[in-house]
Amino acid sequence: MPAPVKVAKPLVFLLCLGPLAALLWAIFFNQESLGADPPGLITDRTGDWTLRFVLISLTMTPLRLITGWNWVIRFRRMLGLFAFFYGLLHFISYIWFTVNFDIHTTIEDITKRPFITVGFIAFVLMIPLAVTSTKKWIGRLGGKRWNTLHKAIYITSILGVIHFWWRVKSDITKPLIYAVLLGILLAIRLWNLFKIRRKATVYDRAQPAHRS
Ligand code: HEM
Repeated sequence: MPAPVKVAKPLVFLLCLGPLAALLWAIFFNQESLGADPPGLITDRTGDWTLRFVLISLTMTPLRLITGWNWVIRFRRMLGLFAFFYGLLHFISYIWFTVNFDIHTTIEDITKRPFITVGFIAFVLMIPLAVTSTKKWIGRLGGKRWNTLHKAIYITSILGVIHFWWRVKSDITKPLIYAVLLGILLAIRLWNLFKIRRKATVYDRAQPAHRS
């Protein structure tokens, strides 16, 4: 691992813990800042950070494609795991504050409230990605299968935006911003895929002798 990445990793790790630290600080030392509905705010903040980390981790590949900075990919795993971590906190805060550990209400919410259904699917899809994020799992599954599995993050990101969109009642500005950002990130990937496919076709056409 290049030395600057080695130094930056613990710093990025600490930075990623920032939102949690800010929330804990507010809970223990500055409760007025949590407003009239602290439990609701905790669920919202953890939900916000889940979606932000999903989008930040999805930014690494486009950033590498545009800038040529290959080292940014080394942060992708950590950022993805933080997305899962905040997703877990979000789910726990929902179980704790919204349904008060009532399994029947949870099941009813998941099956009957579309905004909870999509949030739940988005979260469940993150579990195998977090579990298989290690090098050992890449070896076990093989690169191709691992890559296919990890494409589930695109579904999580889309469902995460839909979840947010369906949750807001009137002002859709915030989910719209996330939707546009996600659209840009996915468009860059599609454009790159198209470029690779076209290059491969041009190469295949230029090599007819090898194919017979
Ligand atoms: C187990 C799955 C999930 C459940 C049960 C769940 C539940 C909830 C609930 C109840 C709220 C509203 C809180 C309130 O009204 O005060 C909420 C908000 C939100 N959730 Fe989730 N969620 C889940 C998964 C996710 C995932 C995977 C993401 C992101 C990828 C996400 C992102 C958000 C966002 C952005 C908000 C709105 C925050 C805001 O208004 O600022 N949620 N969620």
